[in-house]
Amino acid sequence: MDGNIKNNLPSTKNGQNVDGTLQIMDFLEVIEKRRSVRKYSEKPVEKEILDAIVKVAQTAPSSRNSKSSAFMIVEDRDTLDALSQMRDYGSALLKGAQAAIVVLGDESKTDLWVDNCAISATFVQLAVTAMDLVSCWVHINGRPCLKDVPEGEKAEDYVRNLLGIKDGLRPYCAIAIGYPEE
Ligand SMILES: Cc1cc2nc3c(=O)[nH]c(=O)nc-3n(C[C@H](O)[C@H](O)[C@H](O)COP(=O)(O)O)c2cc1C
Repeated sequence: MDGNIKNNLPSTKNGQNVDGTLQIMDFLEVIEKRRSVRKYSEKPVEKEILDAIVKVAQTAPSSRNSKSSAFMIVEDRDTLDALSQMRDYGSALLKGAQAAIVVLGDESKTDLWVDNCAISATFVQLAVTAMDLVSCWVHINGRPCLKDVPEGEKAEDYVRNLLGIKDGLRPYCAIAIGYPEE
């Protein structure tokens, strides 16, 4: 793996290898194509593609180059099902996803970890689109598990327990990922 992201991307449906480098979607095409998609095909997402998406997200800008964002790839079906139950509104779509990338913020690195996470998650979604996949953002940070009990258990604590995330790393959002339905 060299430092050049483009040279390390696996081929995508529309990708063509030209002289050993990969032709990925035009930037504006990616911007135009990105939409929140909440239903996915049953085709699994290749691990190398998920790894490549995280590599792209790791290039996102961060306050004072603090690089406070971390990424957890979830592919296990039972864990995705459990993740889909983090809230009683707006997270059920994770049940049908083939994978999720949970974006976490290291609050010890910067007070702007939330801002950094939002940028990182956006990079994840754009990389997903560029690789012919679809995604939807499922928010965690600050959200209660139950819509009608805003002071009750928080989605962040539910996700922390489920994924065994250590203190100081703050679950911010999960990006549900899959191939589009035919
Ligand atoms: C900060 C943020 C939080 C979001 N949270 C959720 C969510 O919890 N569940 C969901 O289904 N969509 C969520 N979305 C997706 C938005 O609903 C979606 O981006 C918006 O409706 C615009 O649609 P588009 O992404 O197709 O342009 C979130 C998006 C953002 C940026």
